[in-house]
Amino acid sequence: MTDTPTTTTNSGAPVSADSHSLATGRDGAIPLHDHYLVEKLAQFNRERVPERVVHAKGGGAFGSFTVTHDVSAYTKAALFQPGAVTETLARFSTVAGEAGSPDTWRDPRGFALKFYTSEGNYDLVGNNTPVFFIRDGIKFPDFIHSQKRLPGSHLRNNDMQWDFWTLSPESAHQVTWLMGDRGIPANWRHMDGFGSHTYQWINAAGERFWVKYHFRTNQGNASLTAAEADKLAGTDADYMIRDLHEAIEREEFPSWTLSVQIMSYEDAKTYRFNPFDLTKVWPKADYPLIEVGQFELNRNPENYFAQIEQATFAPSNFVPGIAASPDRMLLARIFSYADAHRYRVGTNHAQLPVNAPKNEVHSYSQDGAARYSFNSASTPVYAPNSVGGPAGDPAYAADERGWENDGEFARTAASLHAEDDDFGQAGTLVRDIMDDAQRARLLETITGHVGAVQNAEIRARAIAYWTNVDATLGVKLAANLGA
Ligand code: HEM
Repeated sequence: MTDTPTTTTNSGAPVSADSHSLATGRDGAIPLHDHYLVEKLAQFNRERVPERVVHAKGGGAFGSFTVTHDVSAYTKAALFQPGAVTETLARFSTVAGEAGSPDTWRDPRGFALKFYTSEGNYDLVGNNTPVFFIRDGIKFPDFIHSQKRLPGSHLRNNDMQWDFWTLSPESAHQVTWLMGDRGIPANWRHMDGFGSHTYQWINAAGERFWVKYHFRTNQGNASLTAAEADKLAGTDADYMIRDLHEAIEREEFPSWTLSVQIMSYEDAKTYRFNPFDLTKVWPKADYPLIEVGQFELNRNPENYFAQIEQATFAPSNFVPGIAASPDRMLLARIFSYADAHRYRVGTNHAQLPVNAPKNEVHSYSQDGAARYSFNSASTPVYAPNSVGGPAGDPAYAADERGWENDGEFARTAASLHAEDDDFGQAGTLVRDIMDDAQRARLLETITGHVGAVQNAEIRARAIAYWTNVDATLGVKLAANLGA
């Protein structure tokens, strides 16, 4: 006997051997009743859950969010009150690649946060870019199909990508970000994060505001060149998972400063462009950054599968003082994620330790596969009831007022504002924010990407698309492609 514990079955019974199946004699058959062998093989067959349909490759860590500035005039949310410290989980990811794909492919990066607040979990499921490719969630499945693989050859395909993008000109701002240096961050520590959508904040007096979140990296922004990224894709496909894990092991805890832009409730109606359009940023000259707090990652997961793969982040996880906006992308996402979680992880995914809130749950939901927690037998299973079961509190109704809207149902673009357009902010990014070297790298990248398009019509449309972003860039691209 040694000090090592005896192996057991999943039910806790001791087993006699780890490496030998039960057999009838030396060369005999294995009986079906070797339940330990059956348990090992059956469990193994079920080790994988479906990977996330997007953002499949990623990594993450735990940490905390500390409020340093008073924004209680804008929100009553407990996690944003002065001095509050809230435990958090972050998961970073690429979007289009599958679970084993290289961390350094050009792609937006997911920046998903879970705040375990005293009033329930608040999830902010953002990216490292402040905008997105489309402005209506109904296009999301088509967009993702165009970025993933052809059904026959199972190959990714530039023609599909540029066909979709050029027929969806609202993509121009995000595509310009993607093809620029920020399209391949140096690692997850050296990139900013954004809530991207416009959300609603509600203060203790019930006043409503529109808000955008900016997490600026305290490590400084840095990028990989396309050549560095290509090399790493071959030599260290898990480069960014490794970077984050090792930095935390060295106790070099990465951190971000959270600031917000606040727009008054009324301003949204007359602002020069639709402030709920996810393809646009709000200029800081109009809505300056207001500092809120510090977010730090300081604890690696102990088990990747249990704590990162099974983590479920949902834009529908709001807390009192934070609510949705009319952004059509956000409204679609509010349905999509919880539905994906019920399918990918299971009906009771919210009960897993990584997903469970730290405060008490008083819910009438019950049963379902892998149910773990339950109410006492004396708790009623229906509401309303007259025997002291949980009851809704009308005090929270202020968070559900939403916004005024009227009119009949129609499948049209969202409300039109004077300066709504597709290409304006993409052009500003190229001309006013990028420097000469960045513009040169952008041209090189799009020359390569569009150059790989086979279909002449799609190629011509891509040149027109970049000409609409910036006329000079369009002329240079056409020259590079011999068009
Ligand atoms: C993951 C849908 C737009 C950021 C996912 C998942 C789905 C999804 C189904 C997988 C969820 C899971 O299995 O856990 C959609 C739909 C969108 C949309 C329908 C448009 C209507 C966006 C936008 C952003 C974003 C605009 C960022 C601003 C993310 C992130 C993840 C994710 C970061 C990974 C979360 C994690 O780490 O677990 N999305 N998405 N998505 N999405 Fe979206």
